This record gives sequence, C-alpha cells and structure tokens, in this order.
Amino acid sequence: MRILLIGDVVGKPGRRAVKALLPGLRREYNMDLVVANGENLAAGFGLTRDTMEEMLDAGVDVVTAGNHVWDNKEIIPHMNEEIPLIRPLNFPPGTPGRGTIGAKGALIVNLMGRVFMGTLDDPFRAMEEVLAETRAKIILVDFHGEATSEKNALGWYLDGRVSALVGTHTHVATADARILPKGTAMCTDAGMTGPINSIIGSEPEDVLARFTTQMPRRLRIAEGPVQFNSVLVDVDDTTGMAREIFRIDRNME
Ligand SMILES: [Fe+2]
Ligand SMILES: [Fe+2]
Repeated sequence: MRILLIGDVVGKPGRRAVKALLPGLRREYNMDLVVANGENLAAGFGLTRDTMEEMLDAGVDVVTAGNHVWDNKEIIPHMNEEIPLIRPLNFPPGTPGRGTIGAKGALIVNLMGRVFMGTLDDPFRAMEEVLAETRAKIILVDFHGEATSEKNALGWYLDGRVSALVGTHTHVATADARILPKGTAMCTDAGMTGPINSIIGSEPEDVLARFTTQMPRRLRIAEGPVQFNSVLVDVDDTTGMAREIFRIDRNME
C-alpha cells in the first residue's frame, strides 16, 4: 500500500497547490491513500467544511489537524460527524471529534507533541491505548509537534509497531526520511504546502513586524509561487512494515 502524507496545507495558496498537483502525482506514484494535514486550510487558521471538501475533491482521503484545529469555530459542530477529519487524539476526554480513523484498510492516527506546545495528554501513552485496541496492520501516525527530538523519540518508541510516523506542524520539511531498524518509516516533518515567499506561510512583513516590535499584528497569508511538500511511504500489506519512504516535493508558479 502506498500512502502519501501532505505537509500542512496553508490557505488558498496551499489548496491551489494540492488541486493542481495531487491528481497527477496520485496517478504517477500509484497512491492508495492520501492524508493531508489541514489545520491551516482556512486562511491559515483552522479549517472549514468547504475548505476540507475542496481537499477531498482533489483526491485527499483523510484530513488531519493540530494545534490550530479550533481556530475556525465553524468546523466544531462538524467534528463529530462521519467525515474523514481527525484531530489530535491526546486532547482531553470529551473534546469534539476523534483522533483516529480507518481508511482503505489502514488506521490513521493524529497526535500532538507537548514540547513547546499545549499541555495535552501523554502522546506515548495515548498511542499505547490505540495499539492495544486496534487490529489494523497498516498504521500511519501524523505526529504534530514542534520539537524534532520529541518526534524522533516517538518514532523510535513505535518502531516495529506502526507502519510510519511522519511529523507535521513546523512547516519546514526535514531531509531525514528513513526506515528505522524494526521497519517503521519516519520523517521528522513533512513540511508545508503553501506560499514559498513566506515565513512558514505568512507574509514576511507581518511576521517581521511581530518579531521586531513585539506588538500584535494580523498575519496575512503570503502570495506568489507555491510549494507542495509531502512524504510517500510504501508499506508491505502482509507485515505492515515499511518498504520505502521518500519525499515528493514540487514547486509551481
Ligand atoms: Fe500548521
Ligand atoms: Fe500546528
């Protein structure tokens, strides 16, 4: 089974890149399952039903989220519907939505890190509960986190027990896609699908004003050429372990 995870899709430029590039890539690489991190789909902050629908129409099967999931409140009433959207599993019990979903015979799990992020429940223990309950052989974890160390640690912790762990959230792609000794594929961060001439998706002028003045400033999504960042994992259906992992990155005007 070939699974693609697309790094955080940011605003309209990110959606434009997915719509333009994904249908061709899906065919070219024979993908069976496409997962996209959608926490920044709606103008960079959260997502809406419509922006999520745009991704599904472009060939995305499952949308994952992260710390920005609640930024656009419009999505909250939809979180408990039977739609292919998950949010980090380790939010407190009773939070709207769910943290895992089955698709095309695989289980997709969304988790969030705790280093330099919110104080969520322990992602390591949350994953133990998932593994105790699931019968799925093919398991993909989208680990949404800031610290490379924490993402690497969870990868090693799950080595041999999940098919792949791919990080999201930093919007900066890492060049470390590899298969760990017991067969779990990992990449610290898939990167970002959004405007190239930006500071992690936002207009540089706005971000620089925040850093240099320490005053609040609204962040606009940057314009211009766009990048598409993703990671493809080829999984052996019988063992559930990874055969191959590599990046698929594209730029367009
Ligand atoms: Fe993000
Ligand atoms: Fe994030």
